[in-house]
Amino acid sequence: MSLAEPQASGPIGVFDSGIGGLSILNALREALPHERFVYFADTAHTPYGERSDAFVIERTASIARHLRERHDIKALVVACNTATAAAIHLLRAEHAGFPVVGVEPALKPAVAQSRTGEIAVLATRMTVESRKFEALRAPLADQAQFHVVPCDGLAGAIERSDAPAIASLCDRYLAAAGRFGTEPGRIDTLVLGCTHYPFIADEMRRIVGPEVRFIDTGAPVAQQTRRLLDQAGQLAGDDAAGDLLLLCSAAPEALDVAAARWLVLAAGPAFLADAAPGSLAAAA
Ligand code: DGL
Repeated sequence: MSLAEPQASGPIGVFDSGIGGLSILNALREALPHERFVYFADTAHTPYGERSDAFVIERTASIARHLRERHDIKALVVACNTATAAAIHLLRAEHAGFPVVGVEPALKPAVAQSRTGEIAVLATRMTVESRKFEALRAPLADQAQFHVVPCDGLAGAIERSDAPAIASLCDRYLAAAGRFGTEPGRIDTLVLGCTHYPFIADEMRRIVGPEVRFIDTGAPVAQQTRRLLDQAGQLAGDDAAGDLLLLCSAAPEALDVAAARWLVLAAGPAFLADAAPGSLAAAA
């Protein structure tokens, strides 16, 4: 891999299995309006959550190399809880000294905010079955009761904008978590442990009621990214114009539609990029 020294004028790479990371990208663009971003949606391989660790590790490594090699990114945000759980330690080892920010279910903030001490955590199966998740949960086990639900199929349904599947999976998984409400013994806090889920928060709200707190990780991830860039002296100047390049590994139309629907600030068209190992030719 031939890598340029990161430059303050370079973009920040952001990636997810698909459109979910757009929820993190919104927070990043709000917190860092002068930065340039390259967003990679691995739409040819989404969803990751029910695949093998080895598969997600391989995709994550290929995409990180692609973004560094072809787009000279100055930092990488893994806007995917599943890829973070499976691969962030390997990314950090391979890219030592390079800023890499991951996303993990916000259990600590949930404990701090819950009054009943009953907390639901919705995430992919790979996330909740990971060692990283266990390491996050174990030290908090005596402070709250966690109702953890692996949500097979939900990220895929969101990718496809499949409204009936989203509605029935939300019903099923929120019922599996337990009873929601603010009375003692009820779940009063819901951790959205997959970056796709903020896009269906309204659907979940319809089921759990108005008083339950929803916790996602966009804002803290954006702050951590800003901190790391600041420490490295790599923040873009206040006079720089931020921009965004959208890349994906399958036909770009789906990402265009998702970006038009979910991004707070508009983006140009998405481009097909091939981040297969050893085959980095087709990037925009
Ligand atoms: N958005 C991802 C996450 O935060 C991945 C979901 C999936 O691909 O299964 O976990």
